[in-house]
Amino acid sequence: MNAIGVDVGGTKIAAAVVSSEGEILNEVRYPTQAVPPNRLVETIARAVTEVKDGYAVGGVCLAVPGLILAAENKVVFSPNLHEIEDIRLDEEMGRRTGLSVTVENDANAAAWGEFRFGAGKDVDHLVFITLGTGVGGGVITHGVLLRGSQGSGGELGHVTIDPAGPRCGCGNHGCLEALASGTAIERRAREVASELPNSALGRLAIQRRVLGEDVTRLAQEGDEAALQVLQETGMWLGIGLAGFVNVFNPEVIAVGGGASRAGEFVLGPARKEVQLRARSPSRDLVQIQEASLGPESGVLGAAALARGEDGEYVLGP
Ligand code: BGC
Ligand code: NA
Ligand code: ZN
Repeated sequence: MNAIGVDVGGTKIAAAVVSSEGEILNEVRYPTQAVPPNRLVETIARAVTEVKDGYAVGGVCLAVPGLILAAENKVVFSPNLHEIEDIRLDEEMGRRTGLSVTVENDANAAAWGEFRFGAGKDVDHLVFITLGTGVGGGVITHGVLLRGSQGSGGELGHVTIDPAGPRCGCGNHGCLEALASGTAIERRAREVASELPNSALGRLAIQRRVLGEDVTRLAQEGDEAALQVLQETGMWLGIGLAGFVNVFNPEVIAVGGGASRAGEFVLGPARKEVQLRARSPSRDLVQIQEASLGPESGVLGAAALARGEDGEYVLGP
């Protein structure tokens, strides 16, 4: 039987029908910005109904960008998408789609996708981190997804890295998310642009808003300001990763999300920081690499975590 995985993000809602072999049979995407206020649940339900079209489906898992309460299938806190908070998503979605619906954190789901089908498929101990609007984390240890007592475990993006650092979407200061997300790259790009107004980054910032992808492109062209932005981002990421290496002793750290497309510009300095700071023996063995499924890790992992009416995983364990 197939399952549906839905990835609910700040930029898009993606829903996919996935086979038990992990193959995407059908997929639909809606831009989140185009969703009118108070229509988020309705839009997710529409995406599910639309993607299901003609396929036999045993269950749905919604991957959501926030801290969940698994027993109630709801999001209690979503720093970058408040609209999804405090709704019984299993009931609301079940009523609208007639399917069995559960909820998982988006990064936990993506981590599971990478573990089953991507960068972690040959290992038992994986840390996944996604650098997008927010920073999400997912931890797999001994082949088991770390969920914690209520389902909100693996929240690596809100670990405090620098108490004097910039304010985070969660309200704290200096979380990893505030220092190494796509949002943080854009903020840092504005700062470095004003310090180095004659750089290519500085000149672009005068014309228009600089996006993360601009910074990567300018770094590829050798612009010193863009290189500095990504180097600093990688350094902060590495400080976070060094801690995760100590705590989880992973074999692989897979980095995904839009900002991971900066590749070695960010991963290089991050690896250096891990070498300097981690005290676990896995410091020298852990492979810090880009995630391999790209934006599909969320829908694939969510589908693999979908449960049927009987509570069993639809695609198998
Ligand atoms: C949220 C996480 C989420 C991550 C990526 C963070 O701000 O707290 O729950 O996984 O963003 O969407
Ligand atoms: Na997580
Ligand atoms: Zn935070």
